[in-house]
Amino acid sequence: MPQLTVERVQKFSGRAWRLVKFGDPKEAIELREMTWGAPSPGQVLIRVRTAGAGFPDVMMAAGQFPLLGDPPFGLGEEAAGEIVAVPPGSRFAVGEQVMGITEFLEGWGGYAEYAYVREGSAIRIPAAMTDEQAGGFPIGFRTAYAGLVERAPVEAGQTLLVLGAAGSSGSTALQLGKALGATVIAVAGSQEKLEFCTSHGADHVVNYRTDDLTARIAEITDGRGVDLIYDPVGGETAATALKSIARNGRIALIGLASGTPVPLDSMDMLLRNYTAVGVLATPGSPEAEATIWGRLAELAEQGAITTPVGKVYEFQDVPQMIAEQTAPGAGKSVVRVASK
Ligand SMILES: NC(=O)c1ccc[n+]([C@@H]2O[C@H](COP(=O)([O-])OP(=O)(O)OC[C@H]3O[C@@H](n4cnc5c(N)ncnc54)[C@H](OP(=O)(O)O)[C@@H]3O)[C@@H](O)[C@H]2O)c1
Repeated sequence: MPQLTVERVQKFSGRAWRLVKFGDPKEAIELREMTWGAPSPGQVLIRVRTAGAGFPDVMMAAGQFPLLGDPPFGLGEEAAGEIVAVPPGSRFAVGEQVMGITEFLEGWGGYAEYAYVREGSAIRIPAAMTDEQAGGFPIGFRTAYAGLVERAPVEAGQTLLVLGAAGSSGSTALQLGKALGATVIAVAGSQEKLEFCTSHGADHVVNYRTDDLTARIAEITDGRGVDLIYDPVGGETAATALKSIARNGRIALIGLASGTPVPLDSMDMLLRNYTAVGVLATPGSPEAEATIWGRLAELAEQGAITTPVGKVYEFQDVPQMIAEQTAPGAGKSVVRVASK
């Protein structure tokens, strides 16, 4: 008679913030009891300590995030914590401390007590990094890498203009741009944000609300214009910045925190010889991803890039945190889910 084998599947239970309908985050996001089963190949399961926020949370809650369907689903694109389960053959082990991109596109976010993290994006947390820095590291820096290395490579000595430079995407591009040897002009909307950009390495800062952006860029670049614009904002500010792009310049299209993408005029692109480059930080081959995350971890270990932590929220305040991403202060908002 064949012998029956009973496989014990380990399960983890805890609370998770879930979007239950599109709308105001304070009404549309609810705390639910959930169960996490064994991670599939290509994932690890972590007990979450911190998770990073950003403008995509606002878009998801409003039903404006192009890569997600209808609720219910979990929110939180990135998280850090301790591995509690791995699939057979994983390069990680239970007990390791990692940060990475969650399986939010599959409905499992990081604003939860447990989260599935894409193994290809997981990196061991460098010793000198705080939990808050780890939880807010992956998305901003992976996007900056996609923009400034993969899609619109910036060379040492070139001038990089960063819009929304005190935000999650902008402040990481500012730092990676400096690490790559560019001269960085940071554009932001308040004195506090300009000071924040200077403290993170910006060579020049411009307040687009009070200064004449075109005149200031002309002054800074001796009339030459900028080689690359990193644009997570779009709308009028990006349209104005585009007037100051150098010959053979590029604009890296990252997002639209202003609510609208930058308006592009193909005739203007032709006449002034510039290029618009779309950037979506999606994973390449496992080998390519390993190289990218290894390089980012190395830069973090060297102190060349560091998560620009802004406001830190408690787990019970996640809906409030997401609501506040429409007018964020300087730096990356991070939620503390649990202590070590
Ligand atoms: N392509 C990708 O792979 C990728 C990855 C991550 C994010 N994104 C996209 O990038 C965009 C920015 O995301 P993020 O997380 O960096 O945002 P964020 O941290 O909120 O920063 C956005 C910045 O944009 C400025 N801003 C101007 N108008 C705004 C408005 N109406 N509402 C909010 N902010 C406004 C703000 O700076 P001032 O106060 O200085 O104006 C703010 O600091 C989003 O569209 C997101 O979906 C794309």
